[in-house]
Order: sequence, then structure tokens, then C-alpha cells
Amino acid sequence: MEKYTKRIMITGGAGFIGSHVVRRFVTHYPAYLLINVDKLTYAGNLENLIDIENNPNYVFEKADVVDKKAMDELFLKYKITDVIHLAAESHVDRSIEGPMEFVFTNVVGTVTLLETARKHWVDKEPHVFYHVSTDEVFGSLEEEGFFTEQTPYDPRSPYSASKASSDHFVRAYFHTYQLPIKLSNCSNNYGSHHFPEKLIPLMITNILNEKPLPIYGNGLNIRDWLWVEDHASAIDVIFHNGKVGESYNVGGLNEWTNISLVHYLCQLMDEKLGRPAGSSAKLITYIADRAGHDQRYAIDAHKLDEELAWKPSITFEEGLSKTIDWYLDNTEWIKKVTSGDYQNYYTKQYHNR
Ligand code: NAD
Ligand code: DAU
Repeated sequence: MEKYTKRIMITGGAGFIGSHVVRRFVTHYPAYLLINVDKLTYAGNLENLIDIENNPNYVFEKADVVDKKAMDELFLKYKITDVIHLAAESHVDRSIEGPMEFVFTNVVGTVTLLETARKHWVDKEPHVFYHVSTDEVFGSLEEEGFFTEQTPYDPRSPYSASKASSDHFVRAYFHTYQLPIKLSNCSNNYGSHHFPEKLIPLMITNILNEKPLPIYGNGLNIRDWLWVEDHASAIDVIFHNGKVGESYNVGGLNEWTNISLVHYLCQLMDEKLGRPAGSSAKLITYIADRAGHDQRYAIDAHKLDEELAWKPSITFEEGLSKTIDWYLDNTEWIKKVTSGDYQNYYTKQYHNR
């Protein structure tokens, strides 16, 4: 075990962003051991990591971050030196349907991990507890302005309230116990392996299957989109070079209204599928708005650029085209991850507790 210079627990590594972070660290850092700790909820799929699952510096452990005993055993078993914490319930609509699972995983799970790290990291070795969070903790913007690291927290959905709470606990552990934490708040990600319940992958799979494209409300809400591999590169840079105790905003200055994004997707998909221009757009269907729907998110990522020289590597046009190609080439993956009863997953989980 000690032959590895770092033994990093990555939680939620079988999910969308986590799988990109695991892949990046496993392939870029052969001197590190990466321990992917994931409960494998409906959103966690080991198919996401099939290309690296046999790498010698990668191991998978199925466990729940809320399970104190399991976290304790894993810290001991692998002599964990660092944590990159991504495990979370991540879908806003599910949090509106039932917030409790979000409290368990996002709040209690994060504090369980903080406590485990506090107990084990008593040596002089430098450690990092890196918490991956969201721009949604800052609330909702009107037409002007951007979220900076100084923007006061104003979460408005059960999901963002649970993430805000976890961020507060992470900072509290730094101030109270000097736990060496780092934190980042990122805008909406898109890319391969994104579970097809979120806007972009849902629209791609519905266009493919010629099903209705549900647009909430008037479609004029704005999101700021970042390619998931650029988020993974930002996490790499912050993990290695970010200042302990600080947080960094991550985003790509790439705002779209939902409706113009979906129109653009329809146009690209018509071209790629050889369908007549305008045919996919006919599937657009306006439906009831999301309760408490945040109007606009937009990230100011100057700190990350100026202090750590991070920039997104590709344009949205390139990233979206690559993303569509990945879904068109991976229809088996879509079938596999949507084959379970994922629509009712949350309800079942809660009732089983
Ligand atoms: P995801 O839903 O795709 O993946 C979450 C992963 O966590 C899954 O593999 C799931 O099995 C695992 N998990 C859930 N509960 C767990 C538990 N109790 N114990 C262990 N594992 C558990 O989520 P994502 O979109 O990849 O988001 C990852 C992280 O990044 C989250 O913390 C999220 O808040 C944050 N984030 C996401 C975005 C985005 O646009 N998707 C943007 C900014 C920040
Ligand atoms: O901003 C970062 C956040 O982005 C992350 O923290 C979350 O984990 C992630 O899920 C995402 O949250 P959003 O709510 O912004 O993403 P979602 O893909 O669910 O929705 C994007 C926008 O599209 C939002 O305004 C709601 C709208 N929408 C969504 C779906 C699923 C629709 O109009 N129709 C849909 O079917």
C-alpha cells in the first residue's frame, strides 16, 4: 500500500462527474492509488469505468458514505491520505419529490466523511479533503451579474439546501479543527456518461427515440454549461495547487436559455441522424414549470484562472458535438443504465430506511 505516494478515496466515482475524475487521476497519476467508493444508486454505474477497471492503481469499493463503520474500515484498509468527495444525490427534480435522501447522503454523508478524516488524520503527513459542490448554493440571478466566491449563500431547492449545508460543514471543520479542506462550486456540466434524466442527455435520448422533449415553463431559464472533462481538469488543478481552506468557482462563461439550447441540439441531431431539418424541433413540448425554478446561474471563474491558470479546453460547440457522438455510439449504455426502475428509485430507498 505504501508504495503509492497518495491513496485517494474518490466518493461517487461511478457517477457522471466522478467517473471522469477517477479516469483522469488513474491515467495521469500512476503513483497514486485511487479508491472509488460508491453506493451504486440508480445514478452510479460501473459501466462508466469499464476502460480503466483493470488498471493496477484503481480499486472499487461498494459502500454508503453515511455508513460510519464502512468509512472507518476503508480509511484503515487503504491508509487513506486524501479524499475527493463527489458522492451525492444530484437531481433537483428528485429533491423536490422527496428531500430526505438528499439530507442523508449530502449532509449526513459529508459529515460522516469529515468525522472519519478528522479521526484518522492525526499524523504530520499533508492531507486534502476536497469537497465538490455546485453553483446552486448561491441561489438565482436576474439578467445581470455573476456568482463569485464572495456571493452569499441563498439555496432555494432541497438539493441546493443540502449542498449548501454540506459546504458549511466542510468550512466549519477547517475553522474548528484545522482539517485541510478545499472546495469548489461548479456550473452545469455536460458530456459523456451523463445520466439521461438531466436536460442534455434526456433531450439527446428522446430525440433519438422520437419522444417528446419536455421544456419546463417558458424555457427562458438560463444555465451556464461546462464540459465535464474540463471540470475534471479543474478538480485536478485545485486538488494539487489550490490553497487549503479556500474555495474556487468553476465555469466556462457559456450561458444558454434552455429553449435555445434544445433548438441547437435538435439542429445538430437532425444533421447527424440525416433527418430533414426541423424534424426534431417538432418534438418540443412545453410542460408545467419546476417548483421554485431558479431563473439564471452564471459563474465568474476569474480566481481559478488568475491563481491557478485554469481555462476550459474546448468550446461548447465542440463539446456538444462530441457529447452527441458519444451517445449515438453508446446506445447500449443508455439501455443498460435506464433498464432498472430508476424513476422510482428514490421513493423505494426512502421507504426502505
Ligand atoms: P451523479 O448523480 O451522476 O453521481 C453521483 C454518484 O454518487 C453516483 O455514482 C451514486 O451512486 C453515488 N452515491 C449517491 N449516494 C451515495 C452514497 N450515500 N454513498 C456513496 N455513493 C453514493 O452526480 P454528478 O452529476 O456526477 O455530481 C457529482 C458531484 O458533483 C455532486 O456532489 C454534485 O453535487 C456536484 N456537481 C454536479 C454538477 C452537475 O452539473 N452534474 C455541477 C456542479 C457540482
Ligand atoms: O448548476 C449545477 C447543477 O446543475 C448541479 O449541481 C446539479 O447536480 C445538476 O443536476 C444541474 O442542475 P439543474 O437543475 O440546472 O440541471 P437539469 O439538467 O435538471 O436542468 C437544466 C435546466 O433545464 C433547468 O432550468 C431545468 C430545465 N429542464 C430540465 C429537465 C430535466 C427542462 O426544461 N426539462 C427537463 O426535462
